Amino acid sequence: MTSWITICDTCKHESWSAETHDRPDGEVLAERIEARAAAAGVNTRRVSCLMGCTHGCNVAVQAPGKLAYTLGRFTPDDAAAQAIVDYAALHAESDSGQVPYRTWPQGVKGHFVTRHPPLPGEEA
Ligand code: FES
Repeated sequence: MTSWITICDTCKHESWSAETHDRPDGEVLAERIEARAAAAGVNTRRVSCLMGCTHGCNVAVQAPGKLAYTLGRFTPDDAAAQAIVDYAALHAESDSGQVPYRTWPQGVKGHFVTRHPPLPGEEA
C-alpha cells in the first residue's frame, strides 16, 4: 500500500507578502509535489490548514498502520517538492513508516515537526 502526502494549500512561508505574492505558498508547493508524485508512486491530497501555520509550508506523510509524520518550514520550490516526494516513496516502501536516517533525502532533514504512531491494533 502506498503512502499519501497531505499538503496544506493555504500555508504561507515566513517570506510571504500580499504585496509580492498572489496566492498562498502552499498552492505552489502542492502543484510541485503533485507534478512529481505519480511517477514516484505516492498519492497526494490537499487540505486547507494543518494547524502549523507559524511554520509553513507544511505537509503530512501517512499510510494506514504506519508511523505518520508532519513536516514543515519548507519553501515552495522544486527542491523541497522533490525531497518530500522522495521521502514519501521511502515511507511507502518501509514496513512501519520508519525510514532509516541514512536514506533520508537531504531536503527533509530539519523539517520534521511531529510523529504519530498508528492507532492500537492498526500497526502494519
Ligand atoms: S495554513 Fe498551513 S498549517 Fe495552517
